Amino acid sequence: IIRDDPAAVGEYVGNYIARRINEFKPTAERKFVLGLPTGSSPIPTYKVLIRLVKEGKLSFKDVVTFNMDEYVGLPIDHKESYHTFMFEQLFSHIDIPPSQVNILDGTKKDLIAECEEYEQKIKDAGGIELFLAGIGEDGHVAFNEPGSSLASRTRIKTLAYDTILANSRFFDNDLSSVPRMALTVGVATVLEAREVVVVVTGQRKSLALRRAIEEGVNHLTTLSALQLHQHSLIVADEDATAEL
Ligand code: GLP
Repeated sequence: IIRDDPAAVGEYVGNYIARRINEFKPTAERKFVLGLPTGSSPIPTYKVLIRLVKEGKLSFKDVVTFNMDEYVGLPIDHKESYHTFMFEQLFSHIDIPPSQVNILDGTKKDLIAECEEYEQKIKDAGGIELFLAGIGEDGHVAFNEPGSSLASRTRIKTLAYDTILANSRFFDNDLSSVPRMALTVGVATVLEAREVVVVVTGQRKSLALRRAIEEGVNHLTTLSALQLHQHSLIVADEDATAEL
């Protein structure tokens, strides 16, 4: 789906997610399970979701969320932690009970156990209904950097130099303060969601988008694994389609 600009992409995706949540019939055992990304790309979508909640057209009371990733070693209340980002950009403005929010904790002593428990929690919740995602400039989904196994699950990942460089803009352009590692859901974790929706905006994503959809499935552009998914959707703005 191609829209003019990031705001129009957010409008489309926000309304799309709202429709899915509203169509879903939650039961006592099973709520709508939504996978969520961080980054600048989903912000216009989050703005639309917040607006729909404020207008009474959407509620997150029966929604459980799982975030894609989190830096290793950043305290949860650090201004650049993905916990802080998610509460600032979405959770503090909607009616989701905090007990229904799940975000990996990169400060845990046993990070391997943290990842395994996260996968189990997703399973116990009934699996992810819809995974919203962004894309890195190198084509990564979540923090599945080039070279990640397409069968990967939630685990610790060392960040690629390009990602550290791209994300340094959030750390006062100081490369040395960007965490070197992250916890991330795997490519297979994303592929197992019943539906995947990817937001891609801006020209700096255009090469990655081309590689993800016009080249073959490969582990150097992990978003390309989406070609194997039966129910996936990419919503891009005009600038992101420059190389297609
Ligand atoms: C980080 C996140 C990804 C996100 C990417 C792009 O690497 N782990 O999930 O897609 O940034 O971020 P932005 O949308 O700010 O370009």
